[in-house]
Amino acid sequence: MDDQVGVIGAGVMGHGIAETCAIAGYHVILCDVDDSILSAAIEKIRWSLKSLLDRGMLKESVEGVLARITKTTEFTALGSASFIVEAVKEDSEVKRSVYEKLNQVVSDDCVVVSNTSTIPITELSLMNKNPQKFAGLHFFNPPAVMPIVEIIRGEKTNDSTLLKIKVLSERLKKESVIVNKDIPGFLVNRLNDRMILEALILLQEGAEPMDIDSMARFRLGFPMGICELLDFVGIDTVYFANREMIKHGFNTRPSKILEEMVNSGRTGMKSGRGFYTYPTPNVYVRPTIQPGKKMYRINPVRILASVINEAAWMIRNNVASNEDIERAMKKGMNWPHGPLELADRFGIEVVVNSLKSRLALSGESRYIPDPLLMEMIEKKNTGMRSGTGFFHWETSTTQFESLRYLRIVDFALISINRPERLNALNENVWKELALAMKTALDDDAVRNVFITGNGRAFSAGDDISMMAKWEKIDDAKDWMATYAKPLVDLMIDFPKPIITLVNGLAFGGGCELNMLADIVVASDDAIFSIPEGSIGAIPPIASSIGLANIDRRILRYALTGESLSPGDAQDLGLVDIVVPPDQLSVVMVELSEKLSRIAPLSSRKIKEAANSIKQAQAVNIRAAEEALTELTGTTDFKEGQKAFLKKRSPIWKGK
Ligand code: NAI
Repeated sequence: MDDQVGVIGAGVMGHGIAETCAIAGYHVILCDVDDSILSAAIEKIRWSLKSLLDRGMLKESVEGVLARITKTTEFTALGSASFIVEAVKEDSEVKRSVYEKLNQVVSDDCVVVSNTSTIPITELSLMNKNPQKFAGLHFFNPPAVMPIVEIIRGEKTNDSTLLKIKVLSERLKKESVIVNKDIPGFLVNRLNDRMILEALILLQEGAEPMDIDSMARFRLGFPMGICELLDFVGIDTVYFANREMIKHGFNTRPSKILEEMVNSGRTGMKSGRGFYTYPTPNVYVRPTIQPGKKMYRINPVRILASVINEAAWMIRNNVASNEDIERAMKKGMNWPHGPLELADRFGIEVVVNSLKSRLALSGESRYIPDPLLMEMIEKKNTGMRSGTGFFHWETSTTQFESLRYLRIVDFALISINRPERLNALNENVWKELALAMKTALDDDAVRNVFITGNGRAFSAGDDISMMAKWEKIDDAKDWMATYAKPLVDLMIDFPKPIITLVNGLAFGGGCELNMLADIVVASDDAIFSIPEGSIGAIPPIASSIGLANIDRRILRYALTGESLSPGDAQDLGLVDIVVPPDQLSVVMVELSEKLSRIAPLSSRKIKEAANSIKQAQAVNIRAAEEALTELTGTTDFKEGQKAFLKKRSPIWKGK
């Protein structure tokens, strides 16, 4: 009968699959070795149906659904099923004995699928009397809730069988992804295995589970941390699945950490001890994972690079389509983006560089970048920044002389581009920065603006050779009115979030620009200083708005000219996030997304409120600007410029 489905094995997966089929209206014959197992399974189904009903996810009565499930220990009862799902223990020999019995009873039209996680479908198909009517149908746990299934084609599986499985999946209200080749781990488990191994290597290098998990949850937006996920699924389950995949030719290696945990019984939530501890074995209490500074020490791209490399291999080998890979990870793992979109967002070059550095350190061939990724780089299809990668992105450039301006989908990236002068702020840079900010302001597509420096400096501050040319106070006044003030005013009133990415030296005006930003991200090799006093000038923004809105201790740095490390600057409140240099662009991508998740009008209103606090400092800023222009007329100011250019100590006269 077309609406009869047999499910063999009433364990964790089998009872859930039976429940799912019964909810969809199928008559289910649930088969296991023992009546007590079957009765326990029915009780679990009853409990699950009740909870679905309570959450409004079930449209009929619990008893109505249960009435469609028949339990049996006799294989002969399966003879009338048009569809059979095998969900017995993950052991080839156990499965073989099941198929031997099944071959005696199933009709010639019956489609048989296995829910195996790791055993090759072709190998299992050959144990069946109709290998062409056999395939993999991989449900996720819990089957009644998870919205997706993987359909795996064995070497013998024919098209009509695949079609029938697709139709069944649709009736079960599951989205399906097609895995065209029978590869170890299929799609989701295989991609996950790559991610898990990299996380375990990080642990070996000294990272804490909490750091990895907070990075995964609060930076990548994954629903669970990686160690948290391992504990939940079962350390032993993951360990043995990995071993099976290796046995069937997957190019990876087992993890010592998992092996030791399995050997010592630390199998995760089920034993009460894993990467985290649980009050009672088998009772899931979510570990407390909190964001913190340390999550910025782990590069998410390192975790993702192996996954993306694997996904590229799958595409190139026609294992699965781009769309199916993305859907599988989004629906199967609840990732906010699929691996290919993440590759585009972070940049294919960034991914490949990560792989290459892992390859150089470990010599492990699984890190060799897939030819597909290399070809994309060659064709300059490097992802979101280039406009094309695995997907198309709205990206445009605007030409400037001393800046690079890139609009990447919904944010603008302005890079000061005078690397040979450490991005010193001459008239043109001041002018173009204001023009670029105005471009971003007028572009409705731009929600956030990032400012960084090209080369090894963010900005060395005002160009001394420009200042040295001022002959009278009016020259400085003109400069202030024409170049500096328009940008400062624009930044104070700017209605969109401004984020600076401090990639190196940020001195003087280059440091003070950060005091007008909303979020400041600094790389480990950034250094901050407001040493204007040592050349006979003052830092006007620091001495006014910086002092009032950031911290009193700014005074120390203005009065002494001392430098601040990124950590000092973070303690002071000038810097928000400190990352290793290779993560500045990664954090830019993360922040742009987080910022864009906020309702546009809310973002606007928050900025208006914040800007009004800055605007309240207008009198003080103007006074500081005037004080600066006044100083430019003094003997000491001239001496300061000369001494700086000649690299000698100034001789102050106090006038
Ligand atoms: P389980 O151990 O909870 O259940 C297996 C059931 O099969 C048991 O009730 C057992 O009594 C029954 N069984 C064993 N031999 C049998 C036989 N000869 N005839 C009838 N019933 C028999 O295992 P689980 O976790 O449900 O896994 C089942 C399959 O699903 C495995 O292939 C596994 O790899 C796969 N899978 C498991 C997932 C999970 O999260 N547990 C996720 C996706 C797939």
